Amino acid sequence: MKYTILHFSDVHFPAELSCRSFFDKRILGCCNSLLIRKGKYKLEYFRDAVPLFLEKKPDLFVFTGDAVSSADPREFQKALAAFQPLIDSGIPLLYVPGNHDLYVRDRYCRKAMEDFYAALNGGRSYSDSPWLYDAGPVRIAAIHCAKPLSWYFSCGMMSQQTGDFLRKQMETAGTTAPLLLAGHFPVITDHPLLDFRRKLYGAKIAAEGLENGKIALSLCGHVHQGYERVLPSGSLELCAGSLTKHGSYLEITYDTDAAAEKNFCVKRRSVL
Ligand SMILES: [Fe+2]
Ligand SMILES: [Fe+2]
Repeated sequence: MKYTILHFSDVHFPAELSCRSFFDKRILGCCNSLLIRKGKYKLEYFRDAVPLFLEKKPDLFVFTGDAVSSADPREFQKALAAFQPLIDSGIPLLYVPGNHDLYVRDRYCRKAMEDFYAALNGGRSYSDSPWLYDAGPVRIAAIHCAKPLSWYFSCGMMSQQTGDFLRKQMETAGTTAPLLLAGHFPVITDHPLLDFRRKLYGAKIAAEGLENGKIALSLCGHVHQGYERVLPSGSLELCAGSLTKHGSYLEITYDTDAAAEKNFCVKRRSVL
């Protein structure tokens, strides 16, 4: 049996400027989106990707966050309209928010993210707690490490609760379905772009899980140039990259009949 996951990330619907943007970090997100990123991120890549994704009929879509830029409710409205064909397809979609989706503490922004989260995750309510998607032949731990932070930081924090959850899931490694992670931030942080302002903190248990092979794959985004990292254990960290900047996404096929070391096949695709 073959089980296919289509993984994409960091679509970054552009910032919407409002008078409320001037009262918090949103003004930074707006400047970044409307001045620095303008023209470099192309929503048409996302619009081209949607019919392509539907045509491929994967078993699951995984979207690892940064749907928007400054988390203004109008950004989520536009993103939701664009995601609607994927939601309506009946193919399950697993979404974990990125740091730009939880950009500020404003309650309207938070409510917009929660509504977007529920729409993408089949009605599930957002909470900081990790949860397990186990509807297929793999188990996927959805982890939520993004939090509103000060102006200077775009890093993530893995909570003790998430670490304990992963430890428990790893106890059954080898006797149950392979364990995958879906989170916004890369777990292995020795990447030049993951400096102290941008990396994931508190993720030692997840990194150990990849290093000892108890976690088969980590699916992430955050770094906009995608990459695949192969660990000595054979486990992989797969960064989809930004769909709207580089047009890239990943097709991951799990073959339940293949030998253990060959049962995941990863192909990087492009909408360009
Ligand atoms: Fe991003
Ligand atoms: Fe990010």
